[in-house]
Amino acid sequence: MKIAILNGSPRKENTYALCEAFAEGAKEAGHEVEILHVGKMKIGGCLGCEYCHTKGNGACVQKDDFEQVLEAYKTADMVVFASSVYYFDVTAQLSAAIQRVYCIGKPVAKQAALLLSSMSPNVYDGAIATYKSILGFTGIEDKGVYTAFGDENKSEAKLAEVKAFAAAL
Ligand SMILES: Cc1cc2nc3c(=O)[nH]c(=O)nc-3n(C[C@H](O)[C@H](O)[C@H](O)COP(=O)(O)O)c2cc1C
Repeated sequence: MKIAILNGSPRKENTYALCEAFAEGAKEAGHEVEILHVGKMKIGGCLGCEYCHTKGNGACVQKDDFEQVLEAYKTADMVVFASSVYYFDVTAQLSAAIQRVYCIGKPVAKQAALLLSSMSPNVYDGAIATYKSILGFTGIEDKGVYTAFGDENKSEAKLAEVKAFAAAL
C-alpha cells in the first residue's frame, strides 16, 4: 500500500529517526513510503473562509506547501502522523497540516499510526486524544501509537520496535 508519513518535527533528530525506522520497515514489507517533512514546510492555519467548499471546489484559497500534503491525503492508503511533543501536543506545523484537510473533508486513507517523541514520559494524552478523535470522525483504523522519551529517542531498541511494527503492516 501507499503510506504517507507526515513528520511534524522541524528538526532532523528524534522524530526524524522514528520516521526513518518506520519507513525502513514498511519498505522491507513492500509498501511505497513517502515522508513529508511538514515541520519544515510553510503551512498556514485554516482560515475558515469556506472557499474550498464554495468557489474552490475542494481547492484551498491559500497557496502554500500544503498542496504537497493534500496530494498525499488524496492518494495514501495509510497516513502516519509523527511529531515532537510541543506543550503536550503535536507541533503547530503538523496541527495546521491536519486541519487543512478540511478542504477535502476526509483523507482517502483507511489506516493510520502515530509516532511521538518527547523529552519527558507521560506527556502524550493530548496528542493521542486528538489523534483518536480524528480517527473516530474519519473512520480510519488505528494501527498503533509509538512513543519515545528522553534516552529512548534514537535508541536501537525503540527504532527496532518501530521498524518491526511497520514491517508487519
Ligand atoms: C517548543 C517546545 C515544546 C516542547 N514541549 C515539550 C513537552 O510538553 N513535553 C516534553 O516532554 N517535551 C517537550 N519538548 C521537547 C521535545 O518534545 C523533545 O526534545 C523531542 O524529542 C524533540 O523531537 P525532535 O528531535 O524530533 O524535534 C518541547 C520542545 C520544544 C522545542
